[in-house]
Amino acid sequence: SRSGGADRYEITQREATVEILPGVRTPLWTYEGAFPGPTIESRRGRPVTVTHRNDLPVPTVVHLHGGRTPAESDGYPTDLVLPEGWPDAAHVTHTGAGGPGHVMHDPRAVLTKLSRDYTFPLDQRPALLWYHDHRMDFTAPAIWRGLAGLHIVRDDAEDSLGLPAGRRELPLMIADRAFTADGDLDYPALDPTSRERPGVREPYLAGVLGDVILVNGAPWPVYEADAARYRLRILNASNARHYELEAITDDGRRLDLVQIGADQGLLAAPVTHRLLPIAPAERYDVIIDFSGVRVGSRVRVVNRLGSGRTRDVMAFRVAREVTDDSRIPRVLSTDLPTWRRSDAVRVRDFSFRAGRMHGGHGWLIGGLPFDPARSDVTAGFGDVEVWRLIADVHHPVHLHLVGFRVLSRRGRPPLPHDAGLKDTVSLRPGESVEIITRFDGYRGRYLFHCHNAEHEDMGMMANLEII
Ligand code: C2O
Ligand code: CU
Ligand code: CU
Repeated sequence: SRSGGADRYEITQREATVEILPGVRTPLWTYEGAFPGPTIESRRGRPVTVTHRNDLPVPTVVHLHGGRTPAESDGYPTDLVLPEGWPDAAHVTHTGAGGPGHVMHDPRAVLTKLSRDYTFPLDQRPALLWYHDHRMDFTAPAIWRGLAGLHIVRDDAEDSLGLPAGRRELPLMIADRAFTADGDLDYPALDPTSRERPGVREPYLAGVLGDVILVNGAPWPVYEADAARYRLRILNASNARHYELEAITDDGRRLDLVQIGADQGLLAAPVTHRLLPIAPAERYDVIIDFSGVRVGSRVRVVNRLGSGRTRDVMAFRVAREVTDDSRIPRVLSTDLPTWRRSDAVRVRDFSFRAGRMHGGHGWLIGGLPFDPARSDVTAGFGDVEVWRLIADVHHPVHLHLVGFRVLSRRGRPPLPHDAGLKDTVSLRPGESVEIITRFDGYRGRYLFHCHNAEHEDMGMMANLEII
């Protein structure tokens, strides 16, 4: 509905039983009873208010990933929506990363009961965004249980490019999950009987992997396709799994994956890949052309990093010849920021490494585990900064509020898939990556963190205050 100048949606977060594996009912935590949650489509610059009602048995927080959102609607991990019957604020303690008994208090937390309005101005480049839970210390199990959905922002300029559209534009949310023999989700530390049980413990330091690959909530789906171009808007919504995607025909040919967009919208010009690495939370907007593929045969999308059945992701069965009037323009956009190193007023260094925290093992940024009450980065509104990120193992690093560009990897020029405007960058083991951004949009308290969801819950998050 539309009122008061904003499009309005209402989403109820509730438990639901969903058929994911054929003939098996799986209990989930959902947005509106579905996994993924309902896809919201918006126009650039037209504000959206989403009323989220919490009918789950635990506090929740909603974050619109990739959104340029005022801080009060950005889903800071202690700004909880308390469920019915949750005693009171005194019981909102955060025990996951710190281990049982570790209580962390955030004097700035804004608690609401039962429901909260999140307002998204969406004054930003058109892009595939996603909304997901962001509760401190419990984000990974909440997303695993189903709290994730897509939010697509469009504008007239993009609509007029002639890209594949309608049935031939497919958002693909890729996420791995594991199931018990009964069809329940298998998460190493899920315990529905306990409210304050930590989400993740030490054996899962590397993150939690599943052995079933879901695309839009379905295991290894096969889509009927026309022999034409398709626009695949790929999101890796997995907690910890990395993919290197390739598309292979029945006769062993690898199809080009023509990248037209990154996390934060269209590239300046298309970039052709044969192999597309995608880390948790990254998005790639890709054109694939089935016009040369024999009708009746298949194109398999494969993860080169997988093994056994996690090697397969999904497939397309090319069903019919058609005429295709879509195109891939040589110029896709002309509004990408062109910040240069010399524009930066500051260079900061951050290490992303394992370390000791609260007497156990955790993941640290600059040697420290997340503390909502600590100030980590204070940036001036409008300042351009260069950040040098260095990793021990694989860490997909995400900044809230702003998009950034990749300046270098290991001191060398960025890789082809680093093109465009990003909000998540994959640091590979031992790698250092430089990014450049400008802190604008809104003032307030935001975050940056590793988007391996288990790493995030085990401390790898920090505050970013824009003043
Ligand atoms: Cu998708 Cu702070 O995260
Ligand atoms: Cu985000
Ligand atoms: Cu990490």
